[in-house]
Amino acid sequence: MKLLNEGTAAEEQTATTSEISSNTHQVVHQTSQGVIESDTAAAQLSCNAAELQHLAHQLESLNVGVTGGRMKKLEWDESFKIGSSEIDQHHKHLFELFEKTHEGFINGTPNLGPIFDELIDYARYHFKSEEIWMMDKYYPDATNHRSEHNSFLLRVQKKQMAFHSGQEHISMGTLLFLREWITNHILNTDVDFGKFLKDLERVGTLVCSYEMG
Ligand SMILES: [Fe+2]
Repeated sequence: MKLLNEGTAAEEQTATTSEISSNTHQVVHQTSQGVIESDTAAAQLSCNAAELQHLAHQLESLNVGVTGGRMKKLEWDESFKIGSSEIDQHHKHLFELFEKTHEGFINGTPNLGPIFDELIDYARYHFKSEEIWMMDKYYPDATNHRSEHNSFLLRVQKKQMAFHSGQEHISMGTLLFLREWITNHILNTDVDFGKFLKDLERVGTLVCSYEMG
């Protein structure tokens, strides 16, 4: 009888041990699953933060900053950086020329023509430079990018002609259009080209280190 009891106790102990072991495996599995899920959640959060920042910039570009009938000064900051120092320099200068036109408009400068022309001429020069860089790098979206430039130039040239022939004045509407187009184009289309350039640079570095190693 005692032996029978001991046998039953041993069986119960084995069952308990196996249950503990199974529970331990389950806890370990759940913990590791939890770690993976935490990592995924952290990565997702970081992605969402970047996405939110980008959306905020886009909203800023849509909200062209008109307060009390006056347009906010267009100032270049880090959020407009696309990652190519040459292109970023061009964009900074484009902003300066836009502001020169804007200030001329606010101050009622009698002859805004040459200032407006300087802005459009520089935009044309800048677009051409970007298009050459895109061709040099075999950028796959170059055609769409170029057609955005061309449709902008077409629209602006019509305004330039109307202005020079005396049919139209430079208006707040024209300035708002220029500001919105320039900021949207940089934050979306040019940013994509910047990402492509960065990827290209990363691949180049990897190939170099592979060849040297
Ligand atoms: Fe562009």
